[in-house]
Amino acid sequence: MSELKVGLIGNGSISESHLQAYLSNPKAELVAVCDLNEERASETARKYNIPHVYTDYRELLANPLVEAVSICTWNDSHAEISVAALRAGKNVLCEKPLCKAVDEALQVEQAVRETGKLLQVGYVRRHAANIAVLKKFMDAGELGEIYFAKASLIRRLGNPGGWFADKERSGGGPLIDIGVHVIDLCWYLMGKPKVKSVSGNTYTKLGNRSNIENYDFYKAADYDGSFNTVEDMANALIRFENGASLLVDVSFSLHAKDNSAQINIYGEKGGAEIEPVLSIVTERHNTILNIEPQISTPGFDFQGSFDTEINHFVDNCLGLTENICPVEDGVEMIKVLNAIYQSAAEGREIHF
Ligand SMILES: NC(=O)c1ccc[n+]([C@@H]2O[C@H](COP(=O)([O-])OP(=O)(O)OC[C@H]3O[C@@H](n4cnc5c(N)ncnc54)[C@H](O)[C@@H]3O)[C@@H](O)[C@H]2O)c1
Repeated sequence: MSELKVGLIGNGSISESHLQAYLSNPKAELVAVCDLNEERASETARKYNIPHVYTDYRELLANPLVEAVSICTWNDSHAEISVAALRAGKNVLCEKPLCKAVDEALQVEQAVRETGKLLQVGYVRRHAANIAVLKKFMDAGELGEIYFAKASLIRRLGNPGGWFADKERSGGGPLIDIGVHVIDLCWYLMGKPKVKSVSGNTYTKLGNRSNIENYDFYKAADYDGSFNTVEDMANALIRFENGASLLVDVSFSLHAKDNSAQINIYGEKGGAEIEPVLSIVTERHNTILNIEPQISTPGFDFQGSFDTEINHFVDNCLGLTENICPVEDGVEMIKVLNAIYQSAAEGREIHF
């Protein structure tokens, strides 16, 4: 007998990673699915033998069997569905970003406070095995205080189109889609310092580069090269009250030689490079050391990290562990992302 009965809202690409993780967790049982696209929801239910199928999330939430939900819908519905789920007495795992705007984020936070239910933000990178290793070093004080971090995710050609390219549904382009992962991870590893100010730039110089031939890239199911309302790239400098700073650049389109990923943190006693594989840098006996941890997954292990994230959610729901991705961390990130967009639009630094 499973201990936690789960409903999955939104049955698109990323829901498959949630599904696989729930299926491999003996304490959880998937009892309901929901998607606006009936065929997609029915196909998922058929494939995984899930008894209850809906096209309206309200009906799924009205099912008393469901104790917890994963929300894997477009960003524009995250807040509405989270609030409704919490108020229906369900615990929530909400995919990143928590939502699009600060006022919505505050409504979700208020619903968590008023209902006493749990909301875990889908910051999957926090759950990567290499981060668990790095945290052990950091918690033992081996890097000292982190005063600088650098987060960069560059796609030279990688606007997925569909809802990702529609600002109304996504809230923005690479900044809110992939930037949220790396900004959050750095901020988390830095000890979640209070943000002092944000200065950002966004560009729409190249568009989605749908003219490019002979080069494959990931496309959303409903890809349409003629439609794109999101930025191509964004960069930002985030200053913290403790004097630390975080430098970010992310893109869907850029004249870069390669796609690249870089997440680096620098402290008083040591530093760490997280992408493409974890290495730790320090100094002993007047000698610089590059430490290469010998671990099975030194880079970001996609499904493994989802498994760990969902195991954490299930255990949180069962009261066995304490949520490491609380709603407050979702709210803070929406404030940061919105401030970067505001700074870019107004051409000035935004003070918190
Ligand atoms: N953690 C990660 O690494 C990661 C990776 C990809 C996507 N995501 C996030 O997951 C979410 C979904 O992304 P995706 O790539 O799966 O998109 P997708 O377009 O493949 O799937 C989204 C699905 O949600 C459905 N949907 C939309 N609004 C709905 C509603 N109100 N009720 C029911 N169903 C609804 C759509 O019909 C679609 O089937 C996004 O918020 C995205 O940011 C996270």
